[in-house]
Amino acid sequence: MSQRTLVILKPDAVKRGLVGEIIGRIERKAGWTIPAMELRTLDQETLEAHYGEHKGKVFYEPLMGFMASGPVVVLVVEGERAIEGVRQLAGPTDPIAAAPGSIRGDFGTIVRENLIHASDSEESAERELKLFFPAL
Ligand code: TYD
Ligand code: MG
Repeated sequence: MSQRTLVILKPDAVKRGLVGEIIGRIERKAGWTIPAMELRTLDQETLEAHYGEHKGKVFYEPLMGFMASGPVVVLVVEGERAIEGVRQLAGPTDPIAAAPGSIRGDFGTIVRENLIHASDSEESAERELKLFFPAL
């Protein structure tokens, strides 16, 4: 079942020069492609729409500040079970709990600076793809 999912390489990944490393892991998955990719600095409006589900939580404001702190790489990953597959490559939200071998497990320590966002369901993917790549 081919799917499309929305991925963001967060400002920490860009600042630390980990973009090639992370995209390399995605590219090497059999049959997956990257139909769109762009370096962008995210504005407040886009971030509020993207992380609306977390509004009011204690980590929301710091998360918004962090996500606006520098350029990110926004990309679409397409292929067999791409939604679940990229979440597996990323690992759990908390990088210390994430297993070595996963992106967060290999490179992260701080929950907020966990390198990568990936859509968590078909519904989220549809909404996020429309938000970041409306023309696609
Ligand atoms: P969430 O959607 O729960 O995680 P995921 O990115 O794995 O889908 O949270 C969104 C982001 O918010 C998460 O990637 C990092 C940040 N965050 C915090 O800073 N502190 C927290 O306690 C949580 C749960 C998330
Ligand atoms: Mg999430």
